[in-house]
Amino acid sequence: MPLLFERIKDIRNHLGRLRCDEKASIGFVPTMGYLHEGHKALIKNSVLQNDVTVVSIYVNPAQFGPDEDYHRYPRDIDRDTAICEELGVDVLFAPTDREMYPEGFGTYVSVSGITEVLEGEFRPGHFRGVATVVLKLFNIVQPDRAYFGEKDYQQLKVVEKLVKDLNLPVQIVPVETVRDKDGLALSSRNVYLSDKERVSALSIYRAFQHAQRRTSEGERRADVLIREMEELIRSYPLVRKIDYLTITDPDLQPVEEVRDGDRILVALWVGDTRLIDNWRIKL
Ligand code: PAJ
Repeated sequence: MPLLFERIKDIRNHLGRLRCDEKASIGFVPTMGYLHEGHKALIKNSVLQNDVTVVSIYVNPAQFGPDEDYHRYPRDIDRDTAICEELGVDVLFAPTDREMYPEGFGTYVSVSGITEVLEGEFRPGHFRGVATVVLKLFNIVQPDRAYFGEKDYQQLKVVEKLVKDLNLPVQIVPVETVRDKDGLALSSRNVYLSDKERVSALSIYRAFQHAQRRTSEGERRADVLIREMEELIRSYPLVRKIDYLTITDPDLQPVEEVRDGDRILVALWVGDTRLIDNWRIKL
């Protein structure tokens, strides 16, 4: 069984001993729980690359907007604990809100530039909440390596910038997006989808495949590819609204001509569920 900590001072003591006495390298996987194969891929990488793996499970209120799904976000700590045990996780950190944001809490981290577009535009304050909790978790765990999924590509870029700008002594390891057999990117939020909504959610992967095929055949104009993807996505009945659908370079700068390694990024609503996904174009 992984050791479960709820208190910052307890996990600090425990990891401090491992770090000093045993010279253990520490791998860290921050999550909001309700673990699926995507999280598992991060954890497996950490277990392979480090002496000790720490997983945090914390649904961080600071990164949810007032009208977002904080209260209905799925939670199942017992199932998560069993998954962590199976994968060889050493330490679980599941703090309470009081522990993370005690009365009087008032310091936030904002990463400028890349947080203002895409997700940042549609979820104001989201990345401030993410950067703040990630920095707090890094300060608590002090990992050598931390694992982040490409599924949340902009988040990965924000964390990389946070680490670079603030000289944090941690290596960020990106992990490729894990998809279901039908192509839907795994997400804890997929449980919100009805069977019919799930079919419409597949429009995302179909659009990526379409754009990938068209670029492989020679179409390089981003606006043409975006228009075609949009048309394809809108042909699915339960897609309610596309927040954004764009093609950028690896640093999230929009492009006109597509090159190898560029990213398609999308956020859309299927019914009441907001889904995000992205695709790396291979030429
Ligand atoms: P959460 O959505 O639980 O995701 C935790 C980590 O798992 C993130 O790095 C995310 O990118 C990765 N992940 C999710 N789905 C994935 C998939 N299908 N394939 C690969 N990786 C996947 O992201 C968060 O939590 C929070 O914002 C957090 C970083 C924990 C801060 O609160």
